[in-house]
Formats: sequence, structure tokens, C-alpha cells
Amino acid sequence: MRLSSLVGQWNVYSTGIVTLLVLLVTYSITSRVEPEIHPMLLARQGHGSPVRQEGESPIYRSNAAPHSMPLNSGLSVKEPGASKWSQGRDGDLRDVWRKAISGSSEGDGVKGKGRILTVLGREKVIEHKLEDVTRQINLVGQYISSQGGKKVAIYLPNSVEYIATLFACSFYNITAILLPYDRSDASIISMLQQSGADTVITCPGTFPFDSVVKSYPALRQLIWVVDEGSKHLDWNEVPKGMGGKVNVSTWQDILNDQPQTAGTELPSADTQVAAPDVVMFWVSKNDSVEEMVRFTQGNLVSAISAQLVAIPTKERFSPADLFLPAAPLSSSYTLVLTLVAIYNNASVAFNSVAGASPDLTLATQGVSPTIIVTTPETLSKTHAETKGMITSALSSLSHWIQTRSLVQNGVMPVASFLASYNDSLYPRLGTEPGKLRLVYVAHPADGNNSPLLSELTLSDLRIFTRARIIYALSAAPCAGAVAQTQFHDYRVSGNGKGSHFGPPVSSTEILLRDTGSYKITDENYTGAVVVRGPAIVGGEATLGLVATIRDDNTISVI
Ligand SMILES: *[C@@H]1O[C@H](CO)[C@@H](O)[C@H](O)[C@H]1NC(C)=O
Ligand SMILES: *[C@@H]1O[C@H](CO)[C@@H](O)[C@H](O)[C@H]1NC(C)=O
Ligand SMILES: *[C@@H]1O[C@H](CO)[C@@H](O)[C@H](O)[C@H]1NC(C)=O
Ligand SMILES: *[C@@H]1O[C@H](CO)[C@@H](O)[C@H](O)[C@H]1NC(C)=O
Ligand SMILES: *[C@@H]1O[C@H](CO)[C@@H](O)[C@H](O)[C@H]1NC(C)=O
Ligand SMILES: *[C@@H]1O[C@H](CO)[C@@H](O)[C@H](O)[C@H]1NC(C)=O
Repeated sequence: MRLSSLVGQWNVYSTGIVTLLVLLVTYSITSRVEPEIHPMLLARQGHGSPVRQEGESPIYRSNAAPHSMPLNSGLSVKEPGASKWSQGRDGDLRDVWRKAISGSSEGDGVKGKGRILTVLGREKVIEHKLEDVTRQINLVGQYISSQGGKKVAIYLPNSVEYIATLFACSFYNITAILLPYDRSDASIISMLQQSGADTVITCPGTFPFDSVVKSYPALRQLIWVVDEGSKHLDWNEVPKGMGGKVNVSTWQDILNDQPQTAGTELPSADTQVAAPDVVMFWVSKNDSVEEMVRFTQGNLVSAISAQLVAIPTKERFSPADLFLPAAPLSSSYTLVLTLVAIYNNASVAFNSVAGASPDLTLATQGVSPTIIVTTPETLSKTHAETKGMITSALSSLSHWIQTRSLVQNGVMPVASFLASYNDSLYPRLGTEPGKLRLVYVAHPADGNNSPLLSELTLSDLRIFTRARIIYALSAAPCAGAVAQTQFHDYRVSGNGKGSHFGPPVSSTEILLRDTGSYKITDENYTGAVVVRGPAIVGGEATLGLVATIRDDNTISVI
């Protein structure tokens, strides 16, 4: 069929194209290309401890974290004037924001200063000055404290208000409670009860105010984040008999009731006072249970520090990058990477539809992100749709050549005539396709319904998105990632159906333990994953996941 349709459409251009193709194929097969990373570094991606306990595998660590050294625990923040050789402190989220605004001066664009953008649809993008975000952090933090708020639940889509509230909580000694967005009324009430929130920050239309007031009498304060269109409405009008005990205000009023000059200075850096915990909820994939997880600031900064060093130095997030969280900020992996971007002066764009829909084109509209975090569901859908369109002989050949470049040569395919041949088949990501360079995606450890992305699927996606992909394993008690694949790992082993999560990151170590019918032997390390380290709540956790250590010391689920 395919051949006959090809013959039917044959003309002089086809002859030219095919001749070129044959030449290029010959060239790409005969020419030697240096791989982007030495194959030895991919053949042994982590290292096990020299001894193992009975019923346990050796303890595995990333190559960047020798067993003789402590795991990566924080940002190593040095006070100004401290000696270059002094040991910095681990720091907390306040240091992330202080770093972002350091060096940012008024007026002309200072190099090394990130921007924060809000994407409102395809046409409209609003830029927020970092000083304005600092003002929001101060005024909202002061307001909540003055009203006696101690535990603030954030029920918002990805937005600048979301991240500003998180920082406000750290600066003003308030526990931030990050609620997953778009949940049923019953789950919202259950999460408020579990966490004991006294204040909620949310937007009208999505938060079931009346039923929360009825079923959750501990609520004392509610702050609406209203969008431009509904600013004129008076949200202070609380229905009589309903919210009598709840003080209602709006984000905009809190900012506008203060003079422009108020709240421009962050509270002074007092390193003695520990910043409060951050509460998150892990939604188990059968979608019925929200498990509450209380991260310390130490858990979060250690996860941030591990991500800072997880990719090669010259590929790190920089002021030239535009980072877009295309997954909900209520998941710790997305949140940690967003904080990494802010810490490294990258620009960050927030789009409220990101995470709500599994459409990557929609989530990246309006801007041209260079780095995104997304979900396995989204990538799986993108893969199925794009793969389905690669049907013609020429596009299949082009795909084969690009796969060969990745898998055999270990290099990302260059945008050659062939690689760009029928790019119209590929998803359009961002306003200027071709800018995207890195995609992060995390598989949830208990994700029964979350699709596992195979090595072959990831290889295809590298071609479709023209970006590198880092595939991570995430778990409820772990801030950020338990383990994740290497930046330059494009290998596809065997039939490509398998998948792995690379070695542990530098803030975690992993071992496998006997479980059920799986027994650890000298020949085969297969068992329940136990993860330890400063990024783990309580320092150690057993994940409900059976995995094995492959020959290349990467973690692979059974
Ligand atoms: C971010 O900006 C600060 C202050 O300008 C600078 O010291 C730092 O090196 C920058 N970091 C990166 C990763 O560019
Ligand atoms: C911070 O809040 C906690 C609990 O609300 C309280 O115990 C602690 O004393 C507060 N710390 C400071 C420095 O106010
Ligand atoms: C509401 O705000 C007023 C004025 O700030 C305050 O006096 C009152 O105690 C608050 N009520 C609650 C339930 O927090
Ligand atoms: C979902 O998972 C929880 C805990 O793993 C379990 O208790 C519950 O029965 C499950 N619900 C469904 C509908 O499978
Ligand atoms: C290239 O893509 C366009 C748009 O999807 C399609 O109409 C055309 O048939 C494709 N050409 C080949 C040779 O696959
Ligand atoms: C180890 O055992 C598991 C489960 O029985 C199996 O899937 C895996 O292939 C084995 N690995 C090796 C290296 O034999």
C-alpha cells in the first residue's frame, strides 16, 4: 500500500529528495561522530557500597556522591565577607528568593537577573518585576501574620501568587500548605482538616466556600486572588449567616491598601530563626486518597541542591533560560525544579492551564520555554499522537536516521535537512519552536495508572520535542527526585520496552530489601526500594515499589 502510493506521487522532486537521502544516509552511517558523553560514564552510572547487609542490596549512590562524604544537604550559603573556604549553611527557601533578587537593580536589565511571567492565553503575557514580587511577599506575609494566620493553605493554579505566598510563608514564619488543585469538595475539606489550615488563599469559582465554611469551622481567613476582569466585584461581601466568622479579603486589596513604598525590604536575614515546614499532599494514583507529607526546609533545600548539580555544568539553568512548570506546583518535583530555576536566575513563566490539561502545546503557548517539567500522562499522549502521524516512507526514514544518531552515536540529531524534513508532524511547543532544550518528567512511585515511559518512547520524544529528556522517580516522602536519568543518556537497550530511572540523585541513596517473594541474592538485587538522605522526610522511607539494579547501576522497576 505504502509503496504504491509512493510510486503514484513520484515526480522529479521525489527523485531529488531520495537521492539526497541516500547520500545522507550513507554519510551518516559511514562518518564517525563523537558521542556527547564518554560511554563508560553511562555504563556505570552509580556505585554500590563495598559491603551489603543480609537481605539487602549494597547501598547505591550517584557518582557525584562518594560513600565517604555526606549527601548533598543544602545550598551552602555563605554570608557576605565569609572566607571562600568556609563551610556555608544549608539555607532555606528564603535564601532562594534572596539569591534571585541579589544583583537585580532598578532600571536597565542587569545580566543574571531572571524575570517572572504570567501567561494569559496565546497573546497576553504579563511580566512581573522581581521587586513587585518582593512587595507581594512582604505585604501578604505581614497581612496574614497580623490576622493571626499560622497555617496557610494555597489552593491556586500555577501562578505568581502561588510562589509569592510560598516565599511569604517562609519569611513570616507561617506553615505553607500546598493543596493539589482541581480536587473534589470532599477532598479539599479533608485536606484542610488533616493540615489544620486557618487561612486559605484561592481564586473565586473553584473553591467551594460555602461548604468549606459549613464543614470546617477552623477556617478564619480567606484571601481571594481575583483576576483583572472581576476586580470590581466586592469580595468582602460574605453571604449572611455563612461566613460570619471568616475574614475575607482580596490579594489586590492587600497590595493596594498600602503605599507603593511599603514592603520593599525583606525581613533582615536572621539565620538563627528556622523557617517553617512546608506541607504537601501526595495524591495516590487511584485518586481517592491524599496523603499528607510535611517537608522540612532542609528536605527542600537538599533536593534543590541535588538538582542544581544534576546536569553538566555548561547545561545548567541560566539567565538565558525560560523555565515553565507544565505540571502542578503542588508536586514536589515540579516545585523543586521551579525553585532551582529561580535560584539560578532563569526566567520563570506561569500558565494556569499547565497541569490541568495533558496538552503540551496548550501548556507552552504564549511563550517559548527552554526548559519544562511535565507529566508522564502528557508525554505519553504527545508520543502517541505524533507517532501516529509518522506513516509515510520518508518520514519513517527520517525518524530512523534520527533514532540512529541518538542511540548509536549518542548525539542529539542536528537540525539538518533530514531532521527538519516534515517537522510539521511534530508538536508545536512554544511560540518559537526549536527553543525547548530540556524536558523533566517524573514517574510517581505508586503510580498504578501513570504510564511508564519506555526507553524507546523517550528516544522518540527526544526527536519529537528536539529536547533532552530527564526521567525521574518521585515518591511521597521524598522532596524532588529519588533518582533520575542522566542528561546525555539516550541509550535504548534490547527491544526498548524497558525503562529505568537512572542512578540516585546526590541528595539520596538507595538500597533494595527483601520483600514478599523477592529475595536479595548475590546474583540478583531485586526488592523493595528503600531511600535515605536529607531530602527524605524522617531521613529514610520504604517505597511501595519493587525495583532492580541493572548492570549499569540504574534503577529499573519490575
Ligand atoms: C545570578 O545572579 C547573581 C547576582 O547577579 C550572580 O551572582 C549569580 O552568579 C547568577 N547565577 C547564575 C547561575 O547566573
Ligand atoms: C514560628 O512559629 C512557630 C509555630 O507557630 C512558633 O512556635 C515559633 O516560636 C515561631 N518563631 C518565631 C521566631 O516567631
Ligand atoms: C477579622 O479581622 C478583624 C480586624 O482585623 C479582627 O479583629 C478579627 O479578630 C478577625 N476575625 C477572625 C475570625 O480572625
Ligand atoms: C486506593 O488506594 C488506597 C491506599 O493504597 C486504598 O486504601 C483504596 O482502597 C484504593 N481505592 C481504590 C478505589 O482502589
Ligand atoms: C508532511 O506533513 C504534511 C502536514 O502534516 C502532510 O500533508 C504531508 O503529506 C507530509 N509529507 C510527507 C511526505 O509525509
Ligand atoms: C532478577 O529477578 C527479577 C525478578 O525475578 C527479574 O525480573 C530480573 O530480570 C532478574 N535480573 C537478573 C539480572 O537476573
